[in-house]
Amino acid sequence: MHHFEYKGKVLHAENVPVTEIAETIGTPFYLYSHATLKHHFEVFDRAFKKIPHITCFSVKSNSNIAILRLFGKLGGGADIVSGGELFRAIRAGVPPDKIVYSGVGKTREEISYALESGILLFNVESLEELDAIDECAGKLGKKARIALRVNPDVDPKTHPYISTGLEKNKFGLDVKISVEAYKKAQAMDNISVVGIDCHIGSQLTELSPFVDALSRLKALIDELKTYGILIKYLDLGGGLGITYNDEKPPHPIQYAEEIIKTVLDLGCTLILEPGRVIVGNAGILVTRVLYSKKTSKKKFLIVDAGMNDLVRPSLYGSYHHIQPVVEENRERETVDVVGPICESGDFLAQDRELPRCESGDYLAVMSAGAYGFVMASNYNSRLRPAEVMVKENEFYVIRERETYEDLIAKEKIPGFLED
Ligand code: LLP
Repeated sequence: MHHFEYKGKVLHAENVPVTEIAETIGTPFYLYSHATLKHHFEVFDRAFKKIPHITCFSVKSNSNIAILRLFGKLGGGADIVSGGELFRAIRAGVPPDKIVYSGVGKTREEISYALESGILLFNVESLEELDAIDECAGKLGKKARIALRVNPDVDPKTHPYISTGLEKNKFGLDVKISVEAYKKAQAMDNISVVGIDCHIGSQLTELSPFVDALSRLKALIDELKTYGILIKYLDLGGGLGITYNDEKPPHPIQYAEEIIKTVLDLGCTLILEPGRVIVGNAGILVTRVLYSKKTSKKKFLIVDAGMNDLVRPSLYGSYHHIQPVVEENRERETVDVVGPICESGDFLAQDRELPRCESGDYLAVMSAGAYGFVMASNYNSRLRPAEVMVKENEFYVIRERETYEDLIAKEKIPGFLED
């Protein structure tokens, strides 16, 4: 369920006409619905209420501090992958003891920052990283709580760029060496082994890969027990898919039931790291048609948002539904919706059937709340777009559109070039 609906002819976010926001702040901008964000978080979190758990929202999917604050207030934690994400989560008020830290390339500076902040645990992705954490914790006179991220080698049946739990992927520790790794960790002075972790991929539309991964972790937990290594936290990562087009992913309640069945008797606290399923359909990208043009092969709609604003179509060939903000009864035509960037790969949709659009019309690119703004760049020296949150009858700018001054704020002309 989301709160982007037509009232009369005009698309609304909750009770606010999207046209009103576009006319006030200009385009392009990301637009989130507070009610949808809240609803998605609560449905997911409540689905696990039968067992001790922490819903650690995956900050990489949408890291705006207003959104992190909302989930923190709803009782959520955070799944982070960098010092920058830790900074955001703390600034947003997420309790550090609900923050888990994954990622294959944590630097010593980032590790120390996380230790000083008192995060719940590190999801460790290599033996060398384990040494680094032990060393940093020793220097700070602290014990680092860790889980090992195990690569269970299951096929998530998703896009190859976003599958992470296969042996050929760079993530986690090979399940075959994980018992040895646990023994090594257990013997370290500054490490406290508390958990086990996996994350097998993103945009999964079937339950079976999650269940397979979980049963591998379960077997490992049992084996570890025989060595006196007790696992308190079981982190299953994120990855539950959403509907962009015609996908039929399981509902969070089905997902939770299947997981709870498998982990109930383990007595662990479950950690979940959902991103896309919470924010994906809670956000849209609003853009304006600048021009249209026809070649002998195609008709192009040139809009004011490009691959620098939303890269998913260009990068993964992802489908995002596009609809006019004002519904007019116009004939339909097949078009490519393209941005202003100087690359042929700069498109939001190809060969898409849309009602005929004209210069000045607003379009809504749907399901853009996850991996949208966070992957935006300044390529072609374009200003990153604004972000807006609607709550009932009001809208709030939660990140201002960048300015030209922002573009060069960190740049310097060296003395030898000054006259
Ligand atoms: N936990 C870990 C360790 C992850 O690597 C990810 C996503 C998540 C949780 C959250 O996964 P989610 O629930 O959102 O599926 N940019 C790509 C997606 C990359 C996902 C990376 N990891 C896209 O636009 O589809």
